Amino acid sequence: MTSTDSADPLSQPPHPNPSPNGRGASQRRRGEGLRIALLYNLAQNAPALGGDAPADALDELDTQKNVEAYAAALRAAGHTVFPMEGDVSLAAKLRRLHVDVAFNTCEGYVGDSREAQVPALLEMLGIPYTAAAVLGLSLTLDKAMTKRVLAYHGLPTPRFQEFFTANDPLDPTLRFPLFIKPNREGTGKGITGKSIVNSQAELRDYVGYLLKHYRQSVLVEEYIDGRDLTCGLVGNLATVALNAPIPVEALRSKDGMGVDYAGVHFFPISEVDYTVYEPGTEPVYSNRLKVELADRYRGLCPAPLAEDVAAEIRRLTLETFRRTQSVDLCRVDFRLDRQSGPHAQPQILEINSLPGLTPISALTLCAEAEGWTHADLIVAVMNAAIGRHHLSPKANGKAAVRATRAAQAAPGPVVETSF
Ligand SMILES: Nc1ncnc2c1ncn2[C@@H]1O[C@H](COP(=O)(O)OP(=O)(O)OP(=O)(O)O)[C@@H](O)[C@H]1O
Ligand SMILES: [Mg+2]
Repeated sequence: MTSTDSADPLSQPPHPNPSPNGRGASQRRRGEGLRIALLYNLAQNAPALGGDAPADALDELDTQKNVEAYAAALRAAGHTVFPMEGDVSLAAKLRRLHVDVAFNTCEGYVGDSREAQVPALLEMLGIPYTAAAVLGLSLTLDKAMTKRVLAYHGLPTPRFQEFFTANDPLDPTLRFPLFIKPNREGTGKGITGKSIVNSQAELRDYVGYLLKHYRQSVLVEEYIDGRDLTCGLVGNLATVALNAPIPVEALRSKDGMGVDYAGVHFFPISEVDYTVYEPGTEPVYSNRLKVELADRYRGLCPAPLAEDVAAEIRRLTLETFRRTQSVDLCRVDFRLDRQSGPHAQPQILEINSLPGLTPISALTLCAEAEGWTHADLIVAVMNAAIGRHHLSPKANGKAAVRATRAAQAAPGPVVETSF
């Protein structure tokens, strides 16, 4: 099933008097918000699944209720919002609506760069949008490619090998236990107790299963026995800070809560609390924990960390953000080796350049831990894109005020990013 403007209960009628240049900007009166296309991919609109599709196939996709929450936040900030499915009819829908900007939450349905498909279309149509662009989203969906970029920049990530067949010779320098997951998924898809393997037989068995059911390469990494941490941010680095060294001392928090640096706001770091699960539950943040046991989830936020470790996690988050061409927001997932004591080296597992933004997503919970609302977060992401694209900022939510304060508090001359 696909949704159209008229069939979409969330959408509003097209603009009555579109501008000749295809944008609505010239029609805006002083004080009016922007015309925003709110783009989503709902699980209910996914193409039919093949017979061997895994049970978690649709778990990354959104629900109408969540989309209503994004729309309400943007409307409350003074914008006119046109929610619509990011499907093959998107170009035609957008041509009629003459929007100023798109708020992109599209995970994509199929394809090795599925998250980059809607951004590519938006670029062809000349419509600016929130979050990373085509290259950034293609790169970060692919965990092995991302890890190669991280390694090039000297950033710590578990040693790994990408498998294309279950018989690929195993790199003899990799040490068991190893950890196995699909290379281009999220929401813990394909991550189960079987992901941790102690022998070549176990490894080939699970690699073979993932190759068959997820139809993509498989990532085999050294297993980090440790704490699960995540660090999220919103905003964009000022031009002067884009390529400059990041001083870790500037990323220390006085109270463990948020930190502002050069146009970027870090939310408090969060840790998965495994004590809430039954003994014997898998010791990793698996698909079952993320979906079936989502109600049981408890995050320690801010995570109990020595401040030098927390500041280093923020530095690594920001390095990963800028080296992968992420913009506006991200969430970087880490493991902190249990064996290496309080000053363990955080290991970067992955970056989510299009992280979940639902009312119960990890990034939302981190923002709420320092008093933001879900709506504040949505509006802050929108405002980051508005600033980056030099659209006139009209949002009047609390987050707009915070973002302004963050920019004022940033060290050094702060200018808007130029890309
Ligand atoms: N190399 C590893 N060593 C130990 N645990 C790991 C490793 N890689 C992943 N994990 C575990 O699996 C979880 C999910 O991994 P990852 O973040 O890569 O998956 P994802 O499906 O992309 O997640 P998300 O829901 O954030 O999109 C981690 O939080 C961690 O618990
Ligand atoms: Mg993750």
